[in-house]
Amino acid sequence: MSTTKFTNATGAPVSDNTNIMTAGPRGPALLQDIWLIEKLAHFDREVIPERRMHAKGWGAYGTLTVTHDVTRYTKAKLFSEIGKVTPMFARFSTVAGERGAADAERDIRGTALKFYTEEGNWDIVGNNTPVFFFRDPLRFADLNHAIKRDPRTGLRSADNNWDFWTLLPEALHQVTVVMSDRGIPKSFRNMHLFGSHTFSMINAANERVWVKFHFRTQQGIANLTDAEAAALVATDRESNGRDLLDAIERSDFPRWTLFIMTEDQAKTHKHNPFDLTKVWPKADYPLIEVGVIELNRYPENYFAEVEQAGFSPANIVPGIGFSPDKMLQARLFSYGDAQRYRLGVNFNHIPVNAPKCPFQSYHRDGKMRTDGNLGGTVTFNPNSAGLWDNQPDFAEPALPLDGEAAHYDHRVDDDHWEQPGNLFRKMTTAQRQVLFDNTARAMGDARPHVKQRHVENCTRADPAYGAGVARALQMSSRVAAE
Ligand code: HEM
Repeated sequence: MSTTKFTNATGAPVSDNTNIMTAGPRGPALLQDIWLIEKLAHFDREVIPERRMHAKGWGAYGTLTVTHDVTRYTKAKLFSEIGKVTPMFARFSTVAGERGAADAERDIRGTALKFYTEEGNWDIVGNNTPVFFFRDPLRFADLNHAIKRDPRTGLRSADNNWDFWTLLPEALHQVTVVMSDRGIPKSFRNMHLFGSHTFSMINAANERVWVKFHFRTQQGIANLTDAEAAALVATDRESNGRDLLDAIERSDFPRWTLFIMTEDQAKTHKHNPFDLTKVWPKADYPLIEVGVIELNRYPENYFAEVEQAGFSPANIVPGIGFSPDKMLQARLFSYGDAQRYRLGVNFNHIPVNAPKCPFQSYHRDGKMRTDGNLGGTVTFNPNSAGLWDNQPDFAEPALPLDGEAAHYDHRVDDDHWEQPGNLFRKMTTAQRQVLFDNTARAMGDARPHVKQRHVENCTRADPAYGAGVARALQMSSRVAAE
């Protein structure tokens, strides 16, 4: 496409982009100045909805290279042989802040990965922490209402945030991670990436194992203190994006080693293995090395490639499957739904989202269909044209399920405290003090009874945890009579 001539959107030359057409030099504008109208009308529509959460993010392209044989667990083509390279795209984000928020905030980091495999796109839409605040998707909208802006003041509210978190005992594990010294990663390069949920892998014999995905940084873990982050934000709100860009431009490509953990005895697993608020301890589930991802190409255009990227846990490929994790199950709906709203029904045709293998689905029409819309191909199935039909060879093995449909109280008999307590007990004295101080600062002007509730939750995890937070908050660490 020639770029030497300035044209309007339909290709006609623009004769004047400096002076609008008026009736006489002092007169009003004319409606027939179609270039003015086109220019303003396009500008008026430049903004699209931001992601409801994870709105602030940065992306890069790269590769996944297989270094170890895991074909006994999965028939996924991307893992079929050592040395195999699959192209990928990653987007890293904060959760609570809007599109213009500063990067160096105390918050979870989203770690969305899209692998363009020969059998379709596989997405891992994870975080830099292995657990999450809760295990029932009904709480997700509430989480976002609690951590985003207060409906009356339009301000972020520590009271809303902590009122909600402290009323969910299962949140303490994630809250402890976020308030710890790991709560503000120095850069995206200096953090691990987790698939978080339990997924499944299916091998060539159609046998299923449950699996967790961990990507461990090769750059080493590095974090900012609250004070360092505040100083950084004062001079650079895009510190994590800039770090990613600079590293790639100086060919210091960030890498993470991919490991899996597997479990085929779900029924005897100590806790529910599909509970997103709990980890599978590394001591019980050793990490199995799989490969390495490397990010080595920064996008050409932020809006086209990063803002328009759409990731979904529903994007799986043969050999990789879901699990009964109810959070994961709800996410299978929510992402595509959000992207149909945010980007339009044909969002999978946008180059960053489009599979790099042939794809033909009988979907037709819809806003912004720009690829020829299958031309004259019949778009119904079954058809006599011998076109695309069921592929039973790719059916997953049947998953035995039992149980009566009901709303089960998932908090009954559950141990919310052991794992956050274990995490606390692993910390050094200095790390514990950082946790206490970060918590006290983050709780800010939350009301006293909210602070007291948090102290009580921490005390149940470990009395020293509760006592330390109470000290930092200058409160009592007594546990209220239950
Ligand atoms: C973004 C829903 C839990 C990680 C999003 C988006 C939605 C959503 C609607 C915006 C998608 C878009 O506009 O493209 C949900 C729901 C959840 C849930 C309903 C629970 C029921 C989680 C969990 C994780 C996670 C547990 C991590 C383990 C992410 C990431 C993004 C995201 C990384 C940003 C993706 C990107 O970079 O484009 N989520 N989410 N979410 N979510 Fe979730």
